[in-house]
Amino acid sequence: MMLSVLLLLLLVSGSQGSHFLGTMMTYYPKETNADGSVSVILRYKVNFDSCSYNDQWVCGGNCGNETQTLALTKVEEVTGEWCQSEGIITRLLPNNTGFETVLAGGGWINNIQNGVSSWRAVTDVELRNRSDIGKPNTSPQTTILPALRVPSNCPRNIDLLAFDPDGDTVKCRYGNTSDSECNPCTPPSVLSLSPSCSLSFSPTNSSTELPYAVQLVMEDFPTQSITLTQTNGLQEVKTTIDAISKIPLQFVLKVGLPVPSCTDGLYLPRFLSPTPDNRAQLYIPVNQALEIPIRAEATASQSTELLYSGPYNVVKTSWGSGNFSLTWRPSVTEAGQSHPICFVAQANVSGTFYHSDLRCVIVTVGNTTFIEDASTAGPLLTTTTPMTLPATPPLVTTVGTVPATPPPVTTLGTVPATPPPVTSPMIAATTPASGPQYVIALNMKISTTLSLENDSDTIITLIKNKLIEKGLPSTITVRLLSSSQVVVTTARP
Ligand SMILES: *[C@@H]1O[C@H](CO)[C@@H](O)[C@H](O)[C@H]1NC(C)=O
Ligand SMILES: *[C@@H]1O[C@H](CO)[C@@H](O)[C@H](O)[C@H]1NC(C)=O
Ligand SMILES: *[C@@H]1O[C@H](CO)[C@@H](O)[C@H](O)[C@H]1NC(C)=O
Ligand SMILES: *[C@@H]1O[C@H](CO)[C@@H](O)[C@H](O)[C@H]1NC(C)=O
Ligand SMILES: *[C@@H]1O[C@H](CO)[C@@H](O)[C@H](O)[C@H]1NC(C)=O
Ligand SMILES: *[C@@H]1O[C@H](CO)[C@@H](O)[C@H](O)[C@H]1NC(C)=O
Ligand SMILES: *[C@@H]1O[C@H](CO)[C@@H](O)[C@H](O)[C@H]1NC(C)=O
Repeated sequence: MMLSVLLLLLLVSGSQGSHFLGTMMTYYPKETNADGSVSVILRYKVNFDSCSYNDQWVCGGNCGNETQTLALTKVEEVTGEWCQSEGIITRLLPNNTGFETVLAGGGWINNIQNGVSSWRAVTDVELRNRSDIGKPNTSPQTTILPALRVPSNCPRNIDLLAFDPDGDTVKCRYGNTSDSECNPCTPPSVLSLSPSCSLSFSPTNSSTELPYAVQLVMEDFPTQSITLTQTNGLQEVKTTIDAISKIPLQFVLKVGLPVPSCTDGLYLPRFLSPTPDNRAQLYIPVNQALEIPIRAEATASQSTELLYSGPYNVVKTSWGSGNFSLTWRPSVTEAGQSHPICFVAQANVSGTFYHSDLRCVIVTVGNTTFIEDASTAGPLLTTTTPMTLPATPPLVTTVGTVPATPPPVTTLGTVPATPPPVTSPMIAATTPASGPQYVIALNMKISTTLSLENDSDTIITLIKNKLIEKGLPSTITVRLLSSSQVVVTTARP
C-alpha cells in the first residue's frame, strides 16, 4: 500500500513545476473494419525546458484500446531552453463515435506574461463517415517549434501552417477558457490572430525578454454541407460554419531585446534559394528519402543554426555557411498521408538570439506508387541525333498510356509518337542545335494503386519529378489526357 502511494506521487511530480512550452496533436483515421471498429493514429508533440520531462494525453469517451505506441522521442532540442518530443498512438475503437483527448498539468515556464500558469490542451477526434469523401475525417495538419523569438521593436508576421488533407477550410482561434480548452486561455496582448492562422506581432517597448503563452485551436470546416454517419446509422449534418474536428497548437512567443535593424538578412536571418517557399507542398513516395535544402543568411551574426519541428525521424544536416538539409524517409505507415515540417534559422549575435520568419512545408507521402525505368539498365532518357520536328509549338510529346481504372500493378508499353520511328526501346529525344528539347517517346512502367480519376495530380507530380530527375528542364508541364495519354510540354525558351 505504502509503495503504490509513493509511486503515484513520483509519477505526478513529472507534470509539476514550471517547465512547459506547449503541445500540439493531429490525427489520421487508419482503417474501418467490417465489424464497424475503426482505428486512428494520433501524433502529438510536447515541449518542455528539458528532455527529461514528459506528460500523457488522457483519452475520454469511446477510446477503445491502444494498439500501437511510439513512446515520446526527441525531435529537436536547444540545450537549456527547450526540447520537443513526438509520440504516436494508434487506437482501435469499437465504433466510429469520436472521442476527446486532453493534456493537462503543472506549469508553463516562469514569467509567462499573459497570466497562464497551468497547461491544458484538448483534441476532438471526429471519425464518423463523411458523406463527401466516404471515409472518416482527418484533422488539419500543422506543427510548431516550442519557442519563436521576435525582437521587441520589429513588426513580424507568423504564418502558421494550416493544411487539411480532406480539402476543408482551416481556421484558427484562441482557446476558450469557458470551454476548458486551456487553463486559462488569455491571449497575448502583443499578437493579433487572423482566422487564416497568421499571427501578427505589434512592436512593444520592452528591454527585457518576455515570454507569452500562445494557445491556439485549429478547426476544419467543410466547404459545403456534409452528413456524418455513425456506425449505428445515426446521422448529423455539418454546415460550413460547423467545425468537424479541433486540434490544439500551443507554443511560447519570446519577445526579446530590440534589434539594431529589422531588415531581414542582417541580424534577423533570412532564407535564400533553394529553400522551399512557406506552405510549399512536397511529394515523396514511401521508403524514399526527401531531402529539403535550406539556406539562410544573417550577415551581422556570428553563427546561424537551423531549428525544426516535424516527424521524429527527420534528419538535420548542417553543411556549413548557412547551408542545411532536412531529410525524411517516410515509412509505409505514413503512406497516403501529409505531414508538416516547420523550421526557423536562428542567429547568435553576441549571445542574443534572433529568428528568421517561420517557414513550413507539407510533405505528402505516396501510397504504394512508384515509377521505375522500363529496363533495369540504362537511363530513361537518351539523347539521339537531332530529328526534324515542327519548329513551332506545340512542343508536345506523347509518352505512354495510363489505364483509366488501373489494377494494383500495371505495366505500360511504349507508345511511339508519330514520326519518326524510335529505334531505342527506351526513349528518344532530340535537341535541335538551338532549340528546346523534345522527348519523342518514353517507355515507362507505372505501377500504382492510385486512381487515375482521383489522384491524377499525384500521378502527374510523380511523372514530372521522374522526368526532371532524368534531365528534362524543370519548366516542363505534364498533363494526363482524357484519352489516358501522358503529354509533356516544355516552355518555349
Ligand atoms: C480491447 O481489448 C479488450 C481486451 O483485450 C478486448 O476484449 C476488446 O475487444 C478490445 N476492443 C477492441 C475495440 O478491439
Ligand atoms: C462511408 O460512406 C460511403 C458513401 O458515402 C460508403 O460507400 C462507405 O461504405 C461508408 N463506409 C462505412 C464504413 O460505412
Ligand atoms: C519606450 O517607452 C519609454 C517610456 O515609456 C519611452 O520614453 C520611449 O520613447 C519608448 N520607446 C519607443 C521606441 O517607443
Ligand atoms: C551553400 O550553398 C550555396 C548554394 O547552394 C553554395 O553556392 C555554397 O557554396 C554553399 N556553401 C557551402 C559552404 O557549402
Ligand atoms: C553565441 O555567441 C557567443 C559569442 O558572441 C558565444 O560565446 C556563444 O557560445 C554562442 N552561443 C551559441 C549557442 O552558439
Ligand atoms: C492507399 O493504400 C491504402 C492501403 O493499401 C488503400 O486503402 C487506399 O485506398 C489507397 N489510397 C489511394 C488514394 O489509392
Ligand atoms: C473517385 O472519387 C469518387 C468520389 O469520392 C468516388 O466515388 C470514386 O469511386 C473514386 N474513383 C476511384 C477510381 O477511386
